[in-house]
Amino acid sequence: MTEQLADAAYLGAIILFILALGGLSNQETARRGNFYGMLGMAIALVAAIAGITGNHAILVGTLVVGGAVGFVLARRVKMTQMPELVAMLHSLVGLAAVLVGYATYLDPDGHHYEGAEGTIHYIEIYLGILIGAVTFSGSVIAFLKLSARIGGKPLTLPARHWLNLGLLIVTVVLGIIFVGQSSSAVVEYQWSSPLLIMTVIALIFGIHMVMAIGGADMPVVVSMLNSYSGWAAAATGFMLENDLLIVVGALVGSSGAILSYIMCRAMNRKFLSVIAGGFGSSGGGPAKSGDGEQGEAVAVSAEETAELMGEAKEIMIIPGYGMAVAQAQHTVNEMTKALRGKGINVRFGIHPVAGRMPGHMNVLLAEAKVPYDIVFEMDEINDDFPDIDVSVVIGANDIVNPSALDEPDSPIAGMPVLECWKGKTTIVLKRSMATGYAGVENPLFFKENTRMLFGDARESLESVLKALVS
Ligand code: TAP
Repeated sequence: MTEQLADAAYLGAIILFILALGGLSNQETARRGNFYGMLGMAIALVAAIAGITGNHAILVGTLVVGGAVGFVLARRVKMTQMPELVAMLHSLVGLAAVLVGYATYLDPDGHHYEGAEGTIHYIEIYLGILIGAVTFSGSVIAFLKLSARIGGKPLTLPARHWLNLGLLIVTVVLGIIFVGQSSSAVVEYQWSSPLLIMTVIALIFGIHMVMAIGGADMPVVVSMLNSYSGWAAAATGFMLENDLLIVVGALVGSSGAILSYIMCRAMNRKFLSVIAGGFGSSGGGPAKSGDGEQGEAVAVSAEETAELMGEAKEIMIIPGYGMAVAQAQHTVNEMTKALRGKGINVRFGIHPVAGRMPGHMNVLLAEAKVPYDIVFEMDEINDDFPDIDVSVVIGANDIVNPSALDEPDSPIAGMPVLECWKGKTTIVLKRSMATGYAGVENPLFFKENTRMLFGDARESLESVLKALVS
């Protein structure tokens, strides 16, 4: 392939990746966005392979093995295991950046740079390996935590912030020594101790950083590691002088950073406080007994729920993490069809951080074929609750917690929530009175117009559906 043809292919792939990101921003165009992304990647792969001179047999062999592993993994993975898979894949990007960094440094022909060019070249190598190593070890720990192979509890070592600061300072000093030594000497195929020491420090830093973050904050961490893996890829692009990798790395790096920011804002948490760690246990716990002023939660049966819903004109369904756990989305769709068949206006209100990953609820509802035009973002419908007859909260907790607005001392104070209690009746489907992710008691359950339908969400909804259609 001529250089011009390769450049044209890279340009085409870059445009397709940008179109892919644009498409993924909306449910209706997400499928098209994915297609653009796949097409861009296919073009990029062909162009990159065609430009390689060397042993093509090894290349094809590794591509077949890698492709087969990816294919099997993608087919087997369940929707709830997606963050684990993503974490695992990020670790490979990090590892690749480290290996490319060392290969570039150890390449006997790679030291012909002089002056400022040489300095920039060695900074690229140093940064590529640094970001890659942090991404690699951090992603492995994120994978182990998400797959519950190690506990989700944050590891909060005493003086851990000082430890991190110390590691950072040592890394900067080592970087200055490395770049100084490499640029001044005629380097020939030699190992560099500052580079090796920095790699070990970066690996330890990645482990320590993610170990300190609670299991429940892991989605933000995965998105942050996604961003790191992008920057690692961009650094690799500089080392390999590959413009496509630089642009794609920057796209991944910046979109990951924006996503992390959006997630933090929707949880009303500061990005730095998530990264500093120490918040969020491995899951919900029993609600505290409180001071007794909360009142009593009133239970309701599936039949009574069906009756209340059948009499309503306006219904708002609010899905949360429990819907994903119970895999209740298909039953939710059946119930929606039955209610709409009775002429009832059913809508869905989606909180930006409902569930455990961005777009979690949208993906599940799309999988169950719930029509897009009745699924609304929180900001679009939050003012409509006074007109809602029945809100059905399915396995959600924190995202409908009024204490976020009423109690300034609450750990979730300031987090925007779906204000379902302003409607006529709210029915909450969950198995117990346990708290959600944030471990905060929910006054919604004790409100006069709230009814609790206890049990697994799917089983409860199946009973409601049976009663609705009988
Ligand atoms: P949560 O507040 O975690 O509440 C989920 C509720 O589902 C639990 O209280 C649980 O109560 C119930 N549940 C679990 N399994 C169930 C089942 N099989 N059937 C019925 N109910 C079940 O979830 P949410 O309301 O979706 O809020 C999400 C939380 O995650 C927020 O605090 C958010 O900040 C955090 N978070 C989200 C993200 C993203 S990007 N989505 C990222 C990081 C953190 P029982 O145990 O009593 O059943």
